[in-house]
Amino acid sequence: MNALRIENLNVHYGTIHAVHGVSFSVEEGEIVSIVGSNGAGKSTVMWTLAGVVKPSSGTVEVFGRPLPEKPHEIVGMGIALVPERRRLFSALTVWENLVMGAYRRKDKGEIEKDMELCFTLFPIIKQRLKQRSGTLSGGEQQMLAISRALMSSPKVLLLDEPSLGLAPLIVETLMETILRIRGEGMTVLLVEQNATQALEISDRGYILEAGRILKSGPGPDLAGDPEIRKAYLGE
Ligand SMILES: Nc1ncnc2c1ncn2[C@@H]1O[C@H](COP(=O)(O)OP(=O)(O)O)[C@@H](O)[C@H]1O
Ligand SMILES: [Mg+2]
Repeated sequence: MNALRIENLNVHYGTIHAVHGVSFSVEEGEIVSIVGSNGAGKSTVMWTLAGVVKPSSGTVEVFGRPLPEKPHEIVGMGIALVPERRRLFSALTVWENLVMGAYRRKDKGEIEKDMELCFTLFPIIKQRLKQRSGTLSGGEQQMLAISRALMSSPKVLLLDEPSLGLAPLIVETLMETILRIRGEGMTVLLVEQNATQALEISDRGYILEAGRILKSGPGPDLAGDPEIRKAYLGE
């Protein structure tokens, strides 16, 4: 089943046509990457899926149903966005940030299980619970941002440039964690400028440039494609 199906999506900001007739899908249980350079329209696609940007035209379906209008309804359908540059509540503690992630939920026992999952995926988060999130390292902040999203118990996790600003070794760990998150039964849509590692862990990938999909294919194939390496991976 399609977790996400996007057909002929167009998004404008005033006169700027940021996304041009983009179509892609994500099957349940897949990791799919959309890679492209700065300004390609990656975040616009993510904001559209989170309901914070409204498309000018196109079809967006979640598990076979039209994307709801309101962001909280979208969260309710099991879609959680980890935004670019984390957007944590930096004055709040790690624990408070986690609790904020579960703000819509009342299933206390399940909330505790999800918190345990975060601690299993990111043991460092458990050690930092009382610390203000603004004092964490970049890598820890990214772990917390993902944990906060996991606290909404998503079926589909949207990750907007999680590797931004992180050291290569930390990015490697992060990519392994994304594989483990899929192993927990979640579906992952990942957008990255930093394309190679994202494509390598992805079942499928799409290349987005200037708001258009230029190419798609199995992630590792795209990661190894010489034309793509030259044009988009800085080789
Ligand atoms: N809030 C906004 N207002 C006007 N233009 C925007 C806004 N956000 C993004 N854009 C423009 O839309 C295009 C796509 O941006 P974005 O989706 O942020 O790309 P990416 O995430 O791939 O870097 C760019 O040309 C960018 O300048
Ligand atoms: Mg972006």
